[in-house]
Amino acid sequence: MNTEVLNAVGELIDTHIKASKSLNSPALNQLAPEIIAEELKLKEHFDSGFKQTSDLLHFVSVYLDHTNHLSNPNFMGHQVAVPQDLSAIPELIHGSINNPSSLYEMGPAGATCEGFMINWMLDKIGWLNGRDYYDFKFKTGLASGFLTHGGSLANLSALAAARSVIAPNAWVEGNPTDLVVLGAASAHYSIARALSLLGLGKKAFYPVAVDKNEVILIEDLEKVYEQALSDGKRVMCVVANACATSSGLFDPIDAMGDFCQTHGLWFHVDGAHGASALVGTKSKKYVKGIEKADSIIWDAHKMMRVPSLCTAVLFKDFIHQANAFQQKGSYVFHDNDVVGMDSMPYTIECTKSALGTKLFWSFALEGERAIGDYVDSRFALAKEFYDCLKQDEDFEVPYVPESNILCFRYLKHGDDDDFQKRLRYSLINQKAFYITSCEFNSKRYLRVVLINPDTTLTHLIALIKAIKSEATKLL
Ligand SMILES: Cc1ncc(COP(=O)(O)O)c(C=O)c1O
Repeated sequence: MNTEVLNAVGELIDTHIKASKSLNSPALNQLAPEIIAEELKLKEHFDSGFKQTSDLLHFVSVYLDHTNHLSNPNFMGHQVAVPQDLSAIPELIHGSINNPSSLYEMGPAGATCEGFMINWMLDKIGWLNGRDYYDFKFKTGLASGFLTHGGSLANLSALAAARSVIAPNAWVEGNPTDLVVLGAASAHYSIARALSLLGLGKKAFYPVAVDKNEVILIEDLEKVYEQALSDGKRVMCVVANACATSSGLFDPIDAMGDFCQTHGLWFHVDGAHGASALVGTKSKKYVKGIEKADSIIWDAHKMMRVPSLCTAVLFKDFIHQANAFQQKGSYVFHDNDVVGMDSMPYTIECTKSALGTKLFWSFALEGERAIGDYVDSRFALAKEFYDCLKQDEDFEVPYVPESNILCFRYLKHGDDDDFQKRLRYSLINQKAFYITSCEFNSKRYLRVVLINPDTTLTHLIALIKAIKSEATKLL
């Protein structure tokens, strides 16, 4: 390994991160792809390779210039983690040795880190019923889980498990036509995708009525359930948002869990963003009752400082993880003979990255308490921002935030969806701030995700000022 080149790349990244943190670089410098391709000299380097080290370093430097600068405290955009300064080390190790962790014998250290972190997650939920975090073998009757590449694959995996319970023959025979899934229409689009990919079709989703904040009305769950039965359907699963992607608000998990237990229904909690509330001390009230779920998904690359992608799929009982994909591959699946544990039989991927290592690393860099405090602090900051906006008559803020996501509208110049869109583009094209926008309650809102640990109320007050200034330019 050429350590001189690595050191030089490390210095470029370090300089880039330092500049981003001190607001000296843009939050986003978004040029057309043709310009970026030219500046990166893609064709030239593709054809003949980097001719000298200076070409490689120049490429890295230009590449960093054309990125979304997540370490800038004015990055308030998407639900992607702002990694810690040394987060890249597991990626460097993995990129150097390429030990996929889905088969124990292909990557014993990575698979072990995964097993350890899954046990820690099960413990956070209140599900750990093995001996301790070093109890790695999958066993029927014990809770279990695995890591996969992202929340979308994770939801698909969990719904496949739910299907195997209500329709065990579906894997071989295809789907019966009477399966439905209940949840809020604000469920992440990956749920609808999973239903279509599983062959159940989008129509299998029965939306439950929501309140003015798009949160499930528990009394309507009963009604929709009755409706499904009178339509001759069987409920495969009930899905809770924890939290909803647009608003960051949580469905009533505890009450939904009780409902599912009463009716013997599979309960799936989509905790892609919000399951990390379990790590906080103040935030964990939002996921009260999560242990009543049968399956949970939990992204580490959102609120746990882990570079994308890294998502856990967790089951209350291993038997359901085992039955989700009913396949045998002679060259890989021989669970009883291996020294350690293979996650390959249970994941959609065959080969997967050393996901457990980077999840473990994020905690090893700072300790569990620090990650918990980080989650609590981001949730609290969203509430402070809400209080500020609420006092300003130019803004409408529809709800008290429950996580680190908040939607709001600038109304001084009209109640107009198009205006909010133009306002966001105008703001992000100034490069100092990066925020998103979304539809909420059939209206267009500006949206922040307060995920950068260095963002403070001062940055948010500056954001309010910048929004007002851009708004006047649009008149
Ligand atoms: C509630 C929810 N579920 C699932 C997903 C999909 O996760 P991923 O982006 O990791 O595929 C998201 C993404 O934002 C989400 O918010």
